[in-house]
Amino acid sequence: MARALALAWRGWGRVQPNPLVGAVVLRDGAIIAEGWHAEYGEAHAERAALAAAGERARGATLVVTLEPCAHQGKQPACTDAVVASGVRRVVAALTDPNPVARCGAERLRAAGIEVEIGLGAEAAAAQNAIFLHTLRNEVRPFVALKLATSLDGRIADARGASRWLSGPEAREWVQWLRAGYDAIGVGAGTARADNPSLTVRGPLPPRRPPLRVVFDRHAGLGVDSALALTAHELPTVVLVEPGVRGEALRAEGVEVIEGQGLAAQLAALRARGVASLLVEGGGRLAGALVEAGLVDRFYWLQCPCWLGDGGVPAFAGVPDASIAQAPRWRVVERRALGSDTLLVSDRS
Ligand SMILES: NC(=O)c1ccc[n+]([C@@H]2O[C@H](COP(=O)([O-])OP(=O)(O)OC[C@H]3O[C@@H](n4cnc5c(N)ncnc54)[C@H](OP(=O)(O)O)[C@@H]3O)[C@@H](O)[C@H]2O)c1
Repeated sequence: MARALALAWRGWGRVQPNPLVGAVVLRDGAIIAEGWHAEYGEAHAERAALAAAGERARGATLVVTLEPCAHQGKQPACTDAVVASGVRRVVAALTDPNPVARCGAERLRAAGIEVEIGLGAEAAAAQNAIFLHTLRNEVRPFVALKLATSLDGRIADARGASRWLSGPEAREWVQWLRAGYDAIGVGAGTARADNPSLTVRGPLPPRRPPLRVVFDRHAGLGVDSALALTAHELPTVVLVEPGVRGEALRAEGVEVIEGQGLAAQLAALRARGVASLLVEGGGRLAGALVEAGLVDRFYWLQCPCWLGDGGVPAFAGVPDASIAQAPRWRVVERRALGSDTLLVSDRS
């Protein structure tokens, strides 16, 4: 299952809104074939792995990160391919929560195949957090926050400079991360201080370039900013308070969306088709989102330097909590990225 989960990541940036899925075919305890869902609308992982196994799949075990689907969509039902392959046993991590695709296990059992579900379920759910959120919550996108901080929790130095706090490995990883999100957002302060372009510049080209979003209640984004100057080519949204027109930005091709408060603005993004949003700071927007309970995942890049009391805090305005009552998040990943450390945690 660990191998199947690793293969599933190969679809990151390419398969959304579909789930990431990986599969292996086992015979006598050894992997004889592998597959993954590589491109939206193309072969599902099970089908790819079974095709690679060919006749050797007869009597073998299929290990897959999601219950094989039982419906004909852009691709034929995976359960048909599994039955036709002659595998004896299927081990899946997650039940398919998609109402149109589920019941695969029942179909397989009816065909005499042994089915087990649940191995590696926690890791598979963390991997497909965006897909699972989208099915459960139709109101707002999955919201992830990503911040690089010093050891003393600062996101910029006393002059407001944050380039480059993290090292090259972490910055390359951020490019990979961006490719899997529908939208990338920043606060007005960051747009002003860093003049970011919020594009994906790594080796993984996303299937659709993420929408660029600025939380900018008064439409203060400069018409000469990198975002506004490229808004005709790359979709760009500014989220403003009701009544703010943002005519100058509209004239540059920026879409201005009105909403009263963060929850309403996120709902507007969801209504516009954004299922996942990666917020990359800064500290005031991060604090406001945490305070409002609107963050599902936090990617924390911890960088081994000290910026001191004058540096910009990673979070502003998060309300006090006693240790006993402090919300505890669930750590889903810890990893070294060069000299930086990545910690990924999810709201429990
Ligand atoms: N190390 C990192 O990962 C990282 C990442 C990003 C930024 N940075 C650094 O962080 C600094 C900027 O951070 P910051 O905290 O000053 O600014 P910020 O969080 O980027 O932006 C704050 C602004 O966002 C707007 N905003 C819109 N909706 C909001 C809401 N509901 N609550 C709060 N603010 C809202 C407000 O401006 P309006 O009132 O005009 O709407 C507010 O002043 C820069 O120095 C930048 O270089 C570091």
